[in-house]
Amino acid sequence: MQLTDRVAIVTGAGRGIGRATAERLAEAGAKVVVGDVNPESAAAVAGAIDAAGGTAVDAQGDVSKESDAERLAQTALARFGRIDVLVNNAGIGLYTPLLETTLAQWNQVLAVNLTGIFLCSKYCIPAMVESSGGSIVNIASVRAIATTARTTAYTATKGAVIALTKAMAIEFGDESIRVNCVLPGAIDTDMMRENLAEDGLTFEEGIAGAIQKTPMRRVGAGRDIANTVTFLVSDEAAYVTGAAFVVDGGRTVHI
Ligand SMILES: NC(=O)c1ccc[n+]([C@@H]2O[C@H](COP(=O)([O-])OP(=O)(O)OC[C@H]3O[C@@H](n4cnc5c(N)ncnc54)[C@H](O)[C@@H]3O)[C@@H](O)[C@H]2O)c1
Repeated sequence: MQLTDRVAIVTGAGRGIGRATAERLAEAGAKVVVGDVNPESAAAVAGAIDAAGGTAVDAQGDVSKESDAERLAQTALARFGRIDVLVNNAGIGLYTPLLETTLAQWNQVLAVNLTGIFLCSKYCIPAMVESSGGSIVNIASVRAIATTARTTAYTATKGAVIALTKAMAIEFGDESIRVNCVLPGAIDTDMMRENLAEDGLTFEEGIAGAIQKTPMRRVGAGRDIANTVTFLVSDEAAYVTGAAFVVDGGRTVHI
């Protein structure tokens, strides 16, 4: 999969799945804008990509803020002159029972996980139209199709990401912009480890049950998601749009 001279923006790329995706896209030849609300981690990832022989620039910004989303697109255009790929990966979890979820928490999860995709897409798509096409991948979650208790707000946003992806695919097909989403299962990232720690579980304790019900017998790595994203934004996926790809080692097919 070759992405030579393509320009890709990855949100939430300071760590975890976003970092793995930014690095994988750079390996395929893309020039990458490493977006993250945390400026230090964005700079560190952009530096690591440059050090590995790739081309990257960091862009601090909160995807839920309109001015930051606009600035993210402007950074790509100012530095690289075009936008071919947008990976809407930035997301936050919330593991709280519905009756204990405050309106502020609910609004914050929706703002980052859903409104952030709307805003970043809104400011990147005009450049894709300008250059006669592009590809967007939204990171949802398997929780969109099978979930647990205490994740109401998070689950609702991830279900909405699938619907949003389909609507965007229809709206921008005429402009040769493909829009797909990826539904990761349990992926070993800081977010996952922090969630388990909040429940008082070590990583090994927390994943034991999931592994037992995962046909591939392991949790995923950021690279597993990054490889799927790289395929979806490549020319090899030229006829793929509006699709939702489950990447979970088979976890959600196990009853
Ligand atoms: N790890 C998993 O098991 C898993 C499973 C399913 C879906 N996902 C989804 O994958 C995506 C990445 O998850 P992860 O596990 O790598 O998370 P993570 O917490 O390890 O990394 C997320 C990154 O996004 C950044 N970020 C958070 N809020 C932001 C904002 N408002 N604007 C810009 N950047 C922001 C953080 O600073 C961080 O660098 C999320 O959308 C998450 O919901 C993760």
